[in-house]
Amino acid sequence: MKLRNTQHNFGIIALLLHWVMALLIIGLFVLGKYMMSLDYYDSFYHIGPWWHKSFGLLIAVLLVFRIVWKIANPKLLPLENHKPYEINLAKLVQTVLYLSLIVCCLSGVLISTAEDAAISFFDWFEVPAFISRGKEQVDMAGNVHYYATYLLILFAAIHMLAALKHHFLDKDLTLMRIFRSNIQED
Ligand code: HEM
Repeated sequence: MKLRNTQHNFGIIALLLHWVMALLIIGLFVLGKYMMSLDYYDSFYHIGPWWHKSFGLLIAVLLVFRIVWKIANPKLLPLENHKPYEINLAKLVQTVLYLSLIVCCLSGVLISTAEDAAISFFDWFEVPAFISRGKEQVDMAGNVHYYATYLLILFAAIHMLAALKHHFLDKDLTLMRIFRSNIQED
């Protein structure tokens, strides 16, 4: 079991980061939508944001590590059957995924700290506010957060459909490469 990526296989760290973050992102999206549907007197209305912010910070930390890890690891070669347009589309979709994730994390922090409040990380420690411009910031960052999360989920869905197309129609190893670190010979 290899920790680092090679030109033919994702390493265990990249695989874990991919699936843990995918679950966290989808979970946080569902939680965010659920929170928006509650009224003030629902008990979860007050606890939901604590979970949302804590897991949001966790995603932000994992994202920074993932970007560093990606830069520090060899790039996987495309499979032989991957067509140039598929390679370019995959790069574009993955770039949008990374950029929208960065924007989601930053805008989330800006909403939470707009009124100068720190963000609690599972009641373990607090991340202090660094820009606090009040209501105007809540509205602006709120809009950005809303659209960036929808963009992220839309592109994650396109990305997932492409992976399923490779598996079921092209019958290649694209999908299995993101599950097993030894799917091809190095
Ligand atoms: C929110 C959910 C998801 C996000 C944000 C996401 C993001 C990414 C990113 C950024 C990569 C590039 C490798 C890397 O930088 O780590 C990747 C690779 C991959 N993902 Fe996802 N992913 C998500 C969910 C899924 C799902 C549900 C599937 C399959 C059903 C999937 C299948 C794949 C495959 C097959 C690759 C490898 C592509 C290749 O070999 O070029 N992903 N994913």
